[in-house]
Amino acid sequence: MRAAWHGAAPCPTGFRTRPAGHRRRRQRRQRRQQGGERDRSRQAEGGSGTHPGARPRCVPSWAAHGPTPGEDMNHASPAPASPGLRPHTARLYDYFLGGKTNYGVDRKLATEALSLYPNTMVAARHNRAFMHRVVRYLGREAGLCQFLDIGTGIPTEPNLHQVAQREHPEARVVYSDNDPIVLAHARALMTGSPEGATDYVEADVRDPELILEHAGRTLDFDRPVALSLIALMHFVGDADDPFGIVRRLVDALPSGSALALSHATLELDPGLQKVADAYGRQGLEVRLRDHEQVLGFFSGLELVEPGLVATCDWRPELDDSPQDADMVDRSEVGVWAALGIKP
Ligand SMILES: C[S@@+](CC[C@H](N)C(=O)[O-])C[C@H]1O[C@@H](n2cnc3c(N)ncnc32)[C@H](O)[C@@H]1O
Repeated sequence: MRAAWHGAAPCPTGFRTRPAGHRRRRQRRQRRQQGGERDRSRQAEGGSGTHPGARPRCVPSWAAHGPTPGEDMNHASPAPASPGLRPHTARLYDYFLGGKTNYGVDRKLATEALSLYPNTMVAARHNRAFMHRVVRYLGREAGLCQFLDIGTGIPTEPNLHQVAQREHPEARVVYSDNDPIVLAHARALMTGSPEGATDYVEADVRDPELILEHAGRTLDFDRPVALSLIALMHFVGDADDPFGIVRRLVDALPSGSALALSHATLELDPGLQKVADAYGRQGLEVRLRDHEQVLGFFSGLELVEPGLVATCDWRPELDDSPQDADMVDRSEVGVWAALGIKP
């Protein structure tokens, strides 16, 4: 059944909206119940997030925020670093996006990566912009309002649920990541529209059954779900059966569901290998894959136009601040991206 994919269909309305008084009482009760448990299932509360302010035309949305390479980031760490702390992909990515949730060890590797391959920051930010556009597409064009986002990253506004809930305030989003620092910040930051819901599951994508089990508390797997694996699967080596993991996740979703995935590659610029090598020296495995291999993640799915392309080429018109086509060259973005639909 593909009905959800034709035109700007309204969100399925299976989720009840309760009166405000009842909701406030329930939210107070939930706040009391929170605290301590690692995996939580939390109704969202509060506003749906901050809209980016007005920006000059032709400036990418991310260029209005964040540091330029080399800017002092000493204000960064939310807590003292533990001895022996190693760099982590979530905090490195946070640095590249201009966030403050990173430690000296992360910044050291990040600046090394930038010196070896200055496009690293451009690649990260265009990847994030792809996430915004594909979620906008899923809500606006496909009428989806259930999202399972694995490899979420440290919250960076706008987060996925904020983009989704701008299209459909009742959208429900389950986030999952294996980095405890993401969990710590998710608790504080992942608030959403009163009509919708956000959940967080601390888990490794290599345990898809655990993620699906927890996600089932918030998402209705009888209705289409958008699975997003954005800039995640290149951190899963071949020995861990990355294609089998994605197949198991997609198999759990009904017809009309979607897979949004982006993946680092050498094909757009072989220079990216230097970053993978620098990460590898710090024990962070990066498995760069080519176009054909990344297409393998979409096996059995129908690709939405324009297919598997460089992040900057995936429906740029959906950017909230449309960019000039020549603002970035695809050789700078280093990441393939696509959206597939389950027939
Ligand atoms: C490059 S960030 C991408 C964040 C976000 N998806 C985005 O594209 O903006 C990769 C994220 O994947 C997470 N990650 C890496 N390996 C993982 C694994 N095996 N299981 C779950 N999450 C993982 C990291 O902690 C990090 O938050």
